[in-house]
Amino acid sequence: MTETQSNVLLDHVDARAVTGDLDEAILDRNMIVQLDPDHPGFRDAEYRRRRNEIAQLALKYHPRDPIPDAPYTQEEHQVWATIWKALQPAHQAHACAEYRGCLTKLNFEPDRIPQLREVNEKVQAISGFRLEPVAGLVQPRVFLENLADGVFLCTQYIRHHSTPLYTPEPDVVHEIIGHGVTLASERLAELNRLFGKAIKRTQSAAELEKLSRVYWFTIEFGVLREDNETKAYGTGLLSSAGEMAEMHKAELKHFDLDAAAAEKYDPTRFQPMLFCADSFDSMYHTLHDYLVRW
Ligand SMILES: [Fe+2]
Repeated sequence: MTETQSNVLLDHVDARAVTGDLDEAILDRNMIVQLDPDHPGFRDAEYRRRRNEIAQLALKYHPRDPIPDAPYTQEEHQVWATIWKALQPAHQAHACAEYRGCLTKLNFEPDRIPQLREVNEKVQAISGFRLEPVAGLVQPRVFLENLADGVFLCTQYIRHHSTPLYTPEPDVVHEIIGHGVTLASERLAELNRLFGKAIKRTQSAAELEKLSRVYWFTIEFGVLREDNETKAYGTGLLSSAGEMAEMHKAELKHFDLDAAAAEKYDPTRFQPMLFCADSFDSMYHTLHDYLVRW
C-alpha cells in the first residue's frame, strides 16, 4: 500500500452491489460481510469472527427497535482510544467551529467506543436524527434515501487493531466521529435530510450519480473558510487525522455545486481537489437552495 493510499476511505456513495440471499427487507440495508484479501483483518480469524458477531446485530435489527449494544472488547476500545488521541489535536487545528461545538455537546469518553444507543439519545434530542445499525456498506440509493426520514444507516464494527489510523471502509469511528457528530448540528442534519429528499425525487442513474458526487464533495469532503483558514466540515476528513493534515495540500475550487456534480473522484486516494465555501453560512445556504431546487 502506498503512502497516498494509507488513510483513505471507501464510503457509502461508493458501495458495491449487495449480494447474498437474505430476506429482501434486510438485504436492502445490508451487505454480506466479506473482507477483501487486502483488508488489514483478512488473515485474522478472531477479527473476522468479531465482525460477523457485530454484523449479526444489524442483520437481526428491525427499524425503530431499540438498538442492541455491541459487545466491544477491551482491544477494540483501545483502538478507539488511539484514534481519539490522534484526532483531538487535528480537530482543534482543522475542524470548523460548527463541528467543534457539536463535539462538545456529545462529550465522548476518550477510551470507550460509544454505543449507537447512547449517541442517539443526544443527537435525536438536537436534530431528530437517529443512527440505525447496518452490517456493512449499503447500496447508495438506500443509504441516501434513509436520510430523508432522519435515519443514518450506521456500521457498528471497528477497524482492525493493526491499522488504527486507517480503515478501507466506513467503521464506527467514521460513522460516529464523522456523521454522528455532524448530525448534532441542526443545520448539517437538515442538509442531510434534504439530500435524502432530493434522492427520492431522482429517477435516472446518471442524476443519482451527480447527486452522490455533490454529497461526496460536501457532506463527506467539504471544506470552508473560517478566520482566514481552511477548515473541514466533511465527515471523511473529520474522522481521520491523516485526511485533515492532507486536505491543506488539495487544490481548492470555488464552491460551485454544478461543478461538483460533474466532477469525478477517486475514493482510493487522498482527494487532490476539494470544493471550498466562503463560510459555513454560505455553504449552508448554497447547498440548501441547491437541494431544494433539485
Ligand atoms: Fe461517510
